[in-house]
Amino acid sequence: MAEFPEPAPRRVFLETYGCQMNVADAELVGGVLRRHGYLRTEDPAQADVLLLNTCAIRERAEERVLGRLSELLRFKIERPAVQLGVLGCMASHLRERLLDRAPYLDVIVGPDGYRDLPALLDDAVDPRIDVRLDRGETYADLAPDHAAGPRAWLSVMRGCDKFCTFCVVPLTRGRERSLPPDAVVAQVEAAVAGGKREIVFLGQTVNAYRSNDVDFGGLLRLAAQVDGLERIRFTSPHPAEVSDSLIAAMVDERKVMPYIHMPLQSASDRILHEMARDYTVADYRALLARLREAIPDLAVSTDLIVGFPGEDESDYAATADFLAEARYDFAYLFKYSARPGTRAFKMTETVTEEEKGRRLKELIERQEQVSLEKNQDQVGREVEVMVEGPARRPTGHLVGKSRNFKTTVFPDDGALPGDLVRVRVESASGHTLLAR
Ligand code: 5AD
Ligand code: SF4
Repeated sequence: MAEFPEPAPRRVFLETYGCQMNVADAELVGGVLRRHGYLRTEDPAQADVLLLNTCAIRERAEERVLGRLSELLRFKIERPAVQLGVLGCMASHLRERLLDRAPYLDVIVGPDGYRDLPALLDDAVDPRIDVRLDRGETYADLAPDHAAGPRAWLSVMRGCDKFCTFCVVPLTRGRERSLPPDAVVAQVEAAVAGGKREIVFLGQTVNAYRSNDVDFGGLLRLAAQVDGLERIRFTSPHPAEVSDSLIAAMVDERKVMPYIHMPLQSASDRILHEMARDYTVADYRALLARLREAIPDLAVSTDLIVGFPGEDESDYAATADFLAEARYDFAYLFKYSARPGTRAFKMTETVTEEEKGRRLKELIERQEQVSLEKNQDQVGREVEVMVEGPARRPTGHLVGKSRNFKTTVFPDDGALPGDLVRVRVESASGHTLLAR
């Protein structure tokens, strides 16, 4: 009988856009494809399969991906067997309509279709589309291929039930579902066995996690019992889901780091109502005070949107004032972008792009000043840093995060990634602490 040589392994190039959930999904997809015999390449010219793991949160994110697709098309023109695919939120948001912009796509796979990706790539019929949302899919049984470094990201819940009126995520990622706690603990243990020292629990509304009688606070406590794990972080919580149980776990468990991201979006009650955010400014202010009182040295960050439909000068001024009042350690600031399919898409836009730009610029300037002051508050203190590796600048320095998530740089004393070191902060910029 004739012997056939084994086909050469196929190489996949996978590029990720958007949030940390997408980064974690790329690690999941990486694991799925590796177990099906694929090799990874960082060079699109060497790849048999080119995949973009995409984001749909703002129009600009989608435009970037469409631009990148037309760049990658040349590899398919040079080598027609190359497959080009779109994964993630743009796949489930635009679906077949993606083919109007990129008719050459071979696969279009949404966030709940990654299990079937190898089969879709093997199939010969073009295009292969799997954008079904599956409220049962948690990928609890599929181990991700974690990137190098001491920190591992783990998705503990998927989807979002909040339906903020501006946001496309509930449409692209579907309904909330949580991994069973034993599956989460098993993934934490596997990450620690693989050398990780810190885990970051991820979910679109991560603190809405619930599996039978285990809530998010309970999950943090379970993870804290894993030997060898030093630090636990999580993102992104929703302010309306911050429970006593979560706060108590942050207070009691030394492994849970004193940092919380608390997306505010706007400090005008009228706009919050139009956004369907489930809280008032007074609720949020009280919660912030409660968190800061309970957790010493807590760092807090936020997300804010300027230019939501109907946001007038006084709404905007309320947000700008709140930014000064709340004194966030840092803030992610965005111009409103109307997303097809959302409820806000039907609202008439009232703020011009130019005015959005002005409001955004002003908020950025205010926040940079506050971030600088907050970092300067750390000068003279001793902080515990988990080493990540060599700093880009200055040379001869290492970089890592303090417990409250400040990027901290200090002279290289031979410490290794994952080590915890104590250093004294000597100076600070808006983005970095310089320590010794
Ligand atoms: N326009 C601008 N910003 C948005 N975000 C979500 N949807 C939009 C949109 N349509 C922001 C929110 C959210 C963060 C992840 O992205 O601030 O918290
Ligand atoms: Fe979007 Fe709101 Fe859900 Fe966050 S909570 S993902 S902003 S719908």
